[in-house]
Amino acid sequence: MNPLSVSVLAALFIFIGGVTVLIMLEMTGRVRDNAGKAGLILAHRILGYLFLSLFVLILLFMIRKVAGFQEELTPRAVIHIVLALTLIPLLLIKVLVVRRLPQLSAKLPLLGITIFVFSFGLTGITAGYYVLHRSNLTYTTLSAHDNDVLDMELGKAVVNKKCAKCHSLERVYRAYKSDDGWAGTVNKMALLDSPNITSFDVKQALNYLVEQQKKRQAKRPAGLENDIGKSLVSRKCSVCHNLDRVFGARKNIKQWTSTVGRMVTTMDDPDFLSEQEKTDIIAFLSRREAIE
Ligand code: HEC
Ligand code: HEC
Repeated sequence: MNPLSVSVLAALFIFIGGVTVLIMLEMTGRVRDNAGKAGLILAHRILGYLFLSLFVLILLFMIRKVAGFQEELTPRAVIHIVLALTLIPLLLIKVLVVRRLPQLSAKLPLLGITIFVFSFGLTGITAGYYVLHRSNLTYTTLSAHDNDVLDMELGKAVVNKKCAKCHSLERVYRAYKSDDGWAGTVNKMALLDSPNITSFDVKQALNYLVEQQKKRQAKRPAGLENDIGKSLVSRKCSVCHNLDRVFGARKNIKQWTSTVGRMVTTMDDPDFLSEQEKTDIIAFLSRREAIE
């Protein structure tokens, strides 16, 4: 589940909570004929359980997210977590009263409203922050006069701190991209996490990632290319068939390019091979042909 679908779930959560409370007010606030009331009770119950399921779903997602978090939490995050935890006993008490303790049912509307108020605060404290801090982020690239502000240490700090929020850093450091490719990716990520990644962060991260990749590439001695290609083939190409199929084939560089391209299409996973890994595999497989 990505952060966007959580926002959608959270909006749905508040909406359903609101409707459930309105129905409850309608039921208790007015003296009505019993026939109309039965429908309202049913609607209230269905929506109530939907509300509860959404809460559990979002909670599970959040627990997974927090589990990977090593930084100090912001005060906003702390309030958010406290509100979420408070909701758990409130919801349990509500279900308990409804199911087991009918004598207490006069207290239910108050409990329902409390739950809704807490949910609203819970969602609002985060949603409000994002709405108020919406940055007018524009596509940021590096230009010559940025050299004065660019700093590798700062770039490293930005990447390690801000790029590990939604996926591992391994995903970042594994990628090989052209300078424009990095600009595209980092801008896309900044947009996904707006307003937390500013234009300044984009510049620092971009500078660091491009330089870092140059260093990584320079470190690879020529002989090592073979080893990299070989280990990539044994890791990546044995997912669907055994390696005999790969090593048994005789192809030139053009044919390997086409075969590896077809395998990537079959795998249908954008993260299966980066451009650099593809190049390494093709180079290894076709060089092997020349050696033998
Ligand atoms: C708000 C969550 C979020 C943050 C923060 C984030 N990413 Fe991502 N990132 C994603 C998602 C979602 C995907 C997968 C979807 C995609 O590929 O577009 C992804 C995919 C990637 C990929 C693989 C896809 C590609 O285009 O190569 C790279 C590399 C990457 N992110 C780098 C970064 C960097 C660098 C940063 C920090 C500047 C960062 N991410 C911060 C959500 C995030
Ligand atoms: C997603 C599963 C999958 C992965 C991963 C995969 N293959 Fe394949 N491969 C297939 C299938 C299916 C066939 C048979 C159909 C075909 O040839 O397209 C095949 C056939 C082959 C063949 C024999 C056909 C030919 O064109 O000579 C070779 C060689 C081959 N694969 C090499 C590779 C290499 C190299 C890799 C790693 C980059 C790889 N495969 C990774 C699924 C996969």
